[in-house]
Amino acid sequence: MPSNPPSVIAIDGPAASGKSTLGLRLANALGYLFFDTGVMYRAITWLALQRGINVRDEAAVTALAEKAQIDVAPASKSDGRACDVLVDGQDITWEIRRRKVESNVSIVSAYHGVRSALSQQQRRIGQRGHIVMVGRDIGTVILPEADLKIYLDASAEQRARRRYDEIIARGKQADYNEILAKVIERDSIDSTRDVAPLKAAEDAVVLDSDKLDADEVFERALALCR
Ligand code: CDP
Repeated sequence: MPSNPPSVIAIDGPAASGKSTLGLRLANALGYLFFDTGVMYRAITWLALQRGINVRDEAAVTALAEKAQIDVAPASKSDGRACDVLVDGQDITWEIRRRKVESNVSIVSAYHGVRSALSQQQRRIGQRGHIVMVGRDIGTVILPEADLKIYLDASAEQRARRRYDEIIARGKQADYNEILAKVIERDSIDSTRDVAPLKAAEDAVVLDSDKLDADEVFERALALCR
């Protein structure tokens, strides 16, 4: 039987399903650490692009993941960030949200060596407990012993609409159809890869955020913790 409130909470789901929004709110409500594992895959992708490494060069990207020093720290600015993301000391919090990173991250995250380098760090942090950890494989691979697993789903159209609204809210330009195509492409790579594919754990509670707004999703998730 899961402990209440659950100490280790895993939230998985496809791109832009609202995992980070839910995870952050839940972590704040419970006084837990919020850890979005997607930022680590994004950071390695950014680093490869920055260094002119071909993201299709698995050996080179894996070597990078094994050496890179990724740090996630409490937000140092109130500019909409959930936390600071640092690579080798450099603040790349917004860099990793760029289109170029978004287009390449699923290629990088499918590499066995990259996942094994990052998974070890994720597991170590997760096992400390009092944590809400968000990703694609948290409930299935990283922390299969998690006390509560939530799989947050929504249609591709709804998710693309949310991602579009987020970008517009940051004062940037966005093209809805392009975002929708990218979301579908990323989901397809994430769910068909050999290693740790995106899927709901058998014991996950599935929440469909097409039918629930952000507050309702949060209330349902909080109810599962009580
Ligand atoms: O925010 P969004 O849902 O769009 O993406 P994210 O959570 O930042 O993750 C970016 C990418 O990293 C995903 O499309 C996956 O390819 C990869 N990822 C992963 O493979 N495993 C995780 N635990 C987290 C992210």
